Amino acid sequence: MSIPDRARLLGRRVAGLVHSDCHHRPLKLTAAISAIAAAAALSVAAAVPAVAGTSAGTKTSTGTRTGLGIKAGTGTKAGTGAPLWLLAAQHGKYFGTALTLPNLSDPPLLNVADAQFDMVTPGNEMKWDTTEPANGTFNFGPGDQIVAYAHAHHMRVRGHNLVWQSQLPSWVSSLPLDQVKAAMEQHITTEVSHYRGQVYSWDVVNEPLNGDGSFVDDVFYQAMGPSYIADALRTAHAADPRAKLYLNDYNIEGINAKSDAMYNLVKSLKEQGVPISGVGLESHFILGTVPSTMLANMRRFAALGVDVAVTELDDRIQLPATSADLAQQASDYATVVGDCLAVRRCVGVSQWGVGDADSWIPGFFTGYGAATMFDENYQPKPAFYATQQALRHQG
Ligand code: XIL
Repeated sequence: MSIPDRARLLGRRVAGLVHSDCHHRPLKLTAAISAIAAAAALSVAAAVPAVAGTSAGTKTSTGTRTGLGIKAGTGTKAGTGAPLWLLAAQHGKYFGTALTLPNLSDPPLLNVADAQFDMVTPGNEMKWDTTEPANGTFNFGPGDQIVAYAHAHHMRVRGHNLVWQSQLPSWVSSLPLDQVKAAMEQHITTEVSHYRGQVYSWDVVNEPLNGDGSFVDDVFYQAMGPSYIADALRTAHAADPRAKLYLNDYNIEGINAKSDAMYNLVKSLKEQGVPISGVGLESHFILGTVPSTMLANMRRFAALGVDVAVTELDDRIQLPATSADLAQQASDYATVVGDCLAVRRCVGVSQWGVGDADSWIPGFFTGYGAATMFDENYQPKPAFYATQQALRHQG
């Protein structure tokens, strides 16, 4: 296919997608539409010498793809090919990352974040310890800065998170149990109202389950039993009826006791008419352990009538990482992305962090690291190219 034909085809696919997604229009795609027309026009002119048999073909092809990124308000580095967000968008999905406040003053990190991703999850800034450090005292400054950055760069936001036993200020866990419900509802209502219309989705309850499928015995469970989950979802829905509402957890990627319990929980919530839109599969993997049942697991959740999302993908390696490790990591990333592409209701994949230099893994899992698609200097690793390839060839 000639270069102008490819550009026109891509333009049509992207335009069609935007047209059919008017409610939650991907901002980056909207920004890209005029760029695609311009790139197509440019490549018609640029392709002339290539057609005449010069060696300009590859260069023009790279230029066209790079141009799409740049015109969309991003900056794809020459040589890294099409950005992940655009490849994902061709399947109607997003590709996201997590950003924290310190990340916003790290230009090498932001170059990659801006070029590659179209969804942002604040890494810490919307959690309870930041947003309501004392009862009734709210602080949305840090979260607002992440949202402002994301929107200025045509990225949407996954709100993370409203109710979680961790990063929970001690005033909540030491409340008399008969005051917990009101405190939880006030927290949710205030935070969700503050961000109404500005976030695509909320992780309403984070990590509610233990490995054996029982509920985590936190202050919310102690005060309300399992009904705190339905109450949290209903409260969030009342404050922003258009936001997608998720339950998010780890070790529910494959079929096991914990994901069975999440499945039964979501099924029961749906049967009761509780507003739940999706299930987040955190996907903090150890090298070589992506479950073979991940695709079947995503499909069973989708069959309940909810979206699924890969919300916090990383794949940690025992350091030092060998080239064989990096090849295995590339295969792991391609598997996860391929599984998402195979499920219509898998709405997108988010990596937890931008590169190995900002990843949470070394700080939390001693001896492990190298868990992302970009190295310590924000250069793409084999996992990046494998992800690109998976996005090009499947779906
Ligand atoms: C992590 C952050 O990345 C760290 O900076 C913080 O110290 C602890 O939390 N599951 C989640 C995320 O849902 O919120 C966690 O983020 C990682 C595990």
